[in-house]
Amino acid sequence: MPKYVLAFDQGTTSSRAIVFNHASEVVAVAQKEFTQIFPNAGWVEHDANEIWYTQLSVATEAVLKAGLSPADLAAIGITNQRETTVVWNRNTGEPLHNAIVWQDKRTAAYCDELRKAGHAPAIQEKTGLILDAYFSATKLKWILDHVEGARAQAARGELCFGTVDAWLIWKLTNGTVHATDVTNASRTMLYNIHTCEWDKELLELFDIPASVLPEVRSSSEVYGHTQQVLTSASIPICGVAGDQQSALFGQMCLQPGMVKNTYGTGCFMLMHTGTEPIRSKNNLVTTIAWKINNEVHYALEGSVFIAGAVVQWLRDGLGIIKHSSDIEALANTVDDNGGVYLVPAFAGLGAPYWNQHARGTIVGITRGTTAGHFARAAVESIAYQTMDVLTAMEADAGVTIKELRVDGGATVNNQLLQFQSDLLKTTVVRPMITETTALGAAYLAGLAIHFWNGTEEIEKYWQVDKKFTPLMPEAEADTKAAEWKQAINASGAFYV
Ligand code: G3P
Repeated sequence: MPKYVLAFDQGTTSSRAIVFNHASEVVAVAQKEFTQIFPNAGWVEHDANEIWYTQLSVATEAVLKAGLSPADLAAIGITNQRETTVVWNRNTGEPLHNAIVWQDKRTAAYCDELRKAGHAPAIQEKTGLILDAYFSATKLKWILDHVEGARAQAARGELCFGTVDAWLIWKLTNGTVHATDVTNASRTMLYNIHTCEWDKELLELFDIPASVLPEVRSSSEVYGHTQQVLTSASIPICGVAGDQQSALFGQMCLQPGMVKNTYGTGCFMLMHTGTEPIRSKNNLVTTIAWKINNEVHYALEGSVFIAGAVVQWLRDGLGIIKHSSDIEALANTVDDNGGVYLVPAFAGLGAPYWNQHARGTIVGITRGTTAGHFARAAVESIAYQTMDVLTAMEADAGVTIKELRVDGGATVNNQLLQFQSDLLKTTVVRPMITETTALGAAYLAGLAIHFWNGTEEIEKYWQVDKKFTPLMPEAEADTKAAEWKQAINASGAFYV
């Protein structure tokens, strides 16, 4: 059997590909940023073809960097930015419109109307989700309503809808497979997480023809084989999961109660809750963690929309740093935040506030405030938002969380993780392999074809790199939390 697994990690700002060996070591990584399109205030789009080309090119690059050929790949796993909505023509394979990204708020007013009409509780009951423009349903409806001729094409059965996983599977199999996995389906707001079926009433409510929907499969099974890409090799595509669920799996949070937080474009904290869905009483969403061997596992999730993206904004929007990696040095030019708090509600606020209309806010500026304070406040905002989600999660779970496993780009920053531990008053654990999102997809793919024989075999590869335990006096952490709350208030989080 070939000795490597290739994971596609198609994220919000970059496409990545990682080759793993049997010992779960990273053998090669390739990454490419792609264009972020902002056609109007609050709108965010991606060119679906650019997503595909960048993903294919990093896959080729990673395989070459590893000194391998596609024939050395036993399997491909796919993990992806979730909710982002692609609609394409089944006959030509051409997208009908740019992909509408999960951060896009163009359908916020429509969601408000639905809420006023009393639909939110039933939507939450069926899908586990909070009614919000974040999820795919209203984005899909928008494309069908706004692209000329789209509804007629859909009626003729010519259109395919998919989240990014489905789009990539379609492209990799040369248009022969139109499928998604349960975790991605559970983010569409059209999928009933109890019956594990597309929900007829919701399809009616959002006016979505069933003909556009992909088939829903488990997270670890053979979806199809590559055709006419990556040379002539026919590689099974056999692990698929949304990036946050994939990270939960890669972090080996296999027992109920285990929690991970991924610091990416946004921050996403997930707690594995076992084989029964738990309905949140504290504004978290209930979502499918994975389906393996016909068994569905669930998670509670707190989704924070802007985390690492706040650093990008300092770089591209404000221009006070040249490279994202400059942020730590700039933040270190000051001893503390100088009373400055930044709430990066650039795409409204997700958990636990769920206010689509909240806006980015900076408070506490004085004549002595410097760019260093802005940088510090930006980095700290990531930790404060995580604190708010953890508080909600502990309230839902009815327990104090003893340990938070962390991963994602920002976790190289020891200072951030120490501050995080101080604020949470909890141990924060960084594993040796922080590429857990890609690793999860590689594991799901490898398990499907017995490259790995079971979770007992892979669990041993999860090793601690560093543990951070609280050092800050609790009273100081409490004061900071109270000041953060005032900033949150100023962002409009509590206005309806
Ligand atoms: O729900 C959105 C999430 O999947 C995006 O993840 O890693 O691209 O920030 P990321």
